[in-house]
Amino acid sequence: MTKKYITTAIPYMNGDPHIGHALDYCLADVCARYYRLRGDEVRLQAGADEHGSKIWQKAIDSGISVQNFVDTKTEAFIKFIQKLGIKYTDYVRTTDTEHEKRVQEIWQRLADHIYLDTYEGWYCTGCERFITNKEYEENNGVCPDHLKPYEKLKEENYYLRIADFKEEIAAAIEKDEMLILPEFRKKEILKLLADSPDVSISRPRTQLEWGIPVPGDDTQVMYVWMDALANYITVLGYPEATDFTEWWPAAAQFVGKDILRFHAIIWPAMLLGLGLPLPKVLVSHGMVLADGQKMSKSIGNVVNPTEVIDRYSLDAFRYYFLRHIDTFADSDFTWEKFENAYNNELANDLGNLVQRLAAMCAKNGIALEREPDLALDEKYIQLMDKFEYARAFDYVWELVQGLNKRIDDEKPWVLAKNGEMEKLKTCLNGIVTDLLNTNQMLQPFIPATAEKLKEIFAGKIEPPKQPLFPKN
Ligand code: MSP
Repeated sequence: MTKKYITTAIPYMNGDPHIGHALDYCLADVCARYYRLRGDEVRLQAGADEHGSKIWQKAIDSGISVQNFVDTKTEAFIKFIQKLGIKYTDYVRTTDTEHEKRVQEIWQRLADHIYLDTYEGWYCTGCERFITNKEYEENNGVCPDHLKPYEKLKEENYYLRIADFKEEIAAAIEKDEMLILPEFRKKEILKLLADSPDVSISRPRTQLEWGIPVPGDDTQVMYVWMDALANYITVLGYPEATDFTEWWPAAAQFVGKDILRFHAIIWPAMLLGLGLPLPKVLVSHGMVLADGQKMSKSIGNVVNPTEVIDRYSLDAFRYYFLRHIDTFADSDFTWEKFENAYNNELANDLGNLVQRLAAMCAKNGIALEREPDLALDEKYIQLMDKFEYARAFDYVWELVQGLNKRIDDEKPWVLAKNGEMEKLKTCLNGIVTDLLNTNQMLQPFIPATAEKLKEIFAGKIEPPKQPLFPKN
């Protein structure tokens, strides 16, 4: 049994959870369930990013204390993660005293790579990122993601000397020792890394007081990304906990493509500065869009996953989200696309298959004669091991459709009508066995449905009283 540590990005607690946040969680949850299925011991982290100027400003605007503000948001996020059926084992808030203490320890251990200098340039509060002059010019002074003008900063900051680690990081990326997925992002990141200046890792307290104090300098607080990236190891009890030594490096870290650069440049620099191994894989997913557009409250095209789950079911949401939202590319979530997939695929392909198969078994008094071996298909394993979850799910769905075709071809109802009972038994046993094998591969994606299917076909077979996916 191997230990596998999986992480998700910790969202900013400046707003409410939305459908985009669900992607990190769902992909990491599939990964965790798949590894468990393979017999690994898994730890899945989640958490809340609670510092930085974005949150501080939002809290001030809403007129409540910053701590109260983040407490409320964090509560909403925890509910959201639970609603998505995510089985996380660890949760970290960056305002936890434990986390703060450990991040200060990290800072001190990185001291040889940190220096003080004056920063004069641009900042985007939306991205919580220092912007180079080149980017400022390319974007005409306005952040393309947040559509807000960059802010001018002139301040004294501590810097992390990225130059100390560039070669080692580049080599790890090139040799896939820190594998970046999808592959095509590798080049992009190598270019960003080559051009990366040293990064500012603090802000003067006069500009921003909401952050972890820099050890030994009361006038500065840590830059939010320095604090947030550390969560992946503070939650394991870095530096002293045996849990940390047992579980690090991470088997996979899931992040959106928008924040891959922080994870592929600053994060490895921090780890190398601490003398720690790099994560094995960085999986960067695409964005969830609505009709090709960014979802936004002002456009009014925001789909709330909670509404989908309440109206249809958690597995209906997970089904669409994990199969029709591509693992790596940007994809659409619209009600229309969701409802089509629900009716044509979940209700027809799977719901009807289970219903008619169980009904035929029940009617003819047929029960499984041998436990299925529940082996996973080679092709499925290959795709899952490469984090190609949407493609793996497509493959499993082809198997589901193949079972429907098999029933149509083998016509068990004709065998029943002709009284060919032995043949009927063999036919239905074969199909149920293959369905249960296929079901095992569905389990990481739609776990509640997989559980129901197991119950339906165990012992005396009874068709479900309610359809698995009632049509709307
Ligand atoms: N706080 C940082 C992450 C720190 S990790 C050490 C942050 N927060 S975020 O709230 O902006 O984003 C959290 C995660 O949600 C990121 O992986 C981000 O890519 C993802 N998404 C936010 N909106 C998204 C979509 N519309 N679609 C898909 N994922 C997106 O970045």
